[in-house]
Amino acid sequence: MILSIESSCDDSSIAITDIKTKKLIFHKKISQELQHSAYGGVVPELAARLHIEALPKILEETKEYFSKLKAVAVTNSPGLSVTLMEGVTMAKALATSLDIPLIAVNHLKGHIYSLFIEKEAILPCTILLVSGGHTQIIEANSYDDMKIIATTMDDSFGESFDKVAKMMSLGYPGGPIVQELSQKGDENRFDFPIPLRQSPKIEFSYSGLKNAVRLEIEKIKELSSKDKADICASFQKAAVSHIMQKIKKYFKTTIPKNFAIVGGASANIYLRKELEQLCNKHNTTLYLSQLKYCSDNAAMIGRVAIEQFEREEFVSINEIDIQTRIK
Ligand code: KG4
Ligand code: ZN
Repeated sequence: MILSIESSCDDSSIAITDIKTKKLIFHKKISQELQHSAYGGVVPELAARLHIEALPKILEETKEYFSKLKAVAVTNSPGLSVTLMEGVTMAKALATSLDIPLIAVNHLKGHIYSLFIEKEAILPCTILLVSGGHTQIIEANSYDDMKIIATTMDDSFGESFDKVAKMMSLGYPGGPIVQELSQKGDENRFDFPIPLRQSPKIEFSYSGLKNAVRLEIEKIKELSSKDKADICASFQKAAVSHIMQKIKKYFKTTIPKNFAIVGGASANIYLRKELEQLCNKHNTTLYLSQLKYCSDNAAMIGRVAIEQFEREEFVSINEIDIQTRIK
């Protein structure tokens, strides 16, 4: 079995995965959303302190499996440095005391492998990764051959929902809140600009749209609940349209056999519906990770770790480092 740890942002999570069967034996996550909600976003210092409380609590519940562990895996990049450090420190201590190898897992690969929890990997697959930190199109041919073909120039898809929610003091994380309010709103009331509409390039940008929303909010001054719902709906429509326009552009040159959407923001119903339609039209099979594995979790880290274990991709406790950005 492999014990995996995830602490790259505001979720403390530990999983135990069976290497041979890929079965998830144990999985627990303690989310910090409530604690960060008052600040309208993740406060790194606070997140680190909460991981220090939560991770040992979860670890305590996994003691019965210690004798069966063949490796310890941990997210070491990308993420917030102070929170990554908490998971990595715990993983180093476990690997040393149990005398088993250490596996350093890339968080983005984790999101991709969230599709394959308790299953064999379905590759090649083109993947849309939408989370709080990333908006990317990735061509995943195999475990060793993954190419990022589009990324965001500024804010990410999920982050833009968080920021719009913050502007209207709606709470954190903004994604589910904005999505919910949108259902009561008029998506055609505000004509927010769809980013990079005229650009032939396949890339993303959310700062312009975010600023357009900010200006509209400032114009209205005292927002009624109807105003808030209409802003959410009109913003969500523009944000999803931006992604869809770029994906349609991608499909013009490459029609993938398999397409998948992963990451915390892949829970967005509006985006899922639009992608379903596009994939149906092109006979592309659409894969979605289960809702419980969309947001950050250690089960997906454990699933990647199986691949690394089989390839003996280990790292020594002196060499493991943390990286805040993608390399
Ligand atoms: O993958 P994740 O849990 O953490 C990161 O690695 O960033 O993603 C969290 C992000 C947050 O920005 C959150 O607002 C967004 O995903 N999110 C959504 C939805 N649910 C979560 N964004 C749009 N619509 C949603 N339904
Ligand atoms: Zn994530």
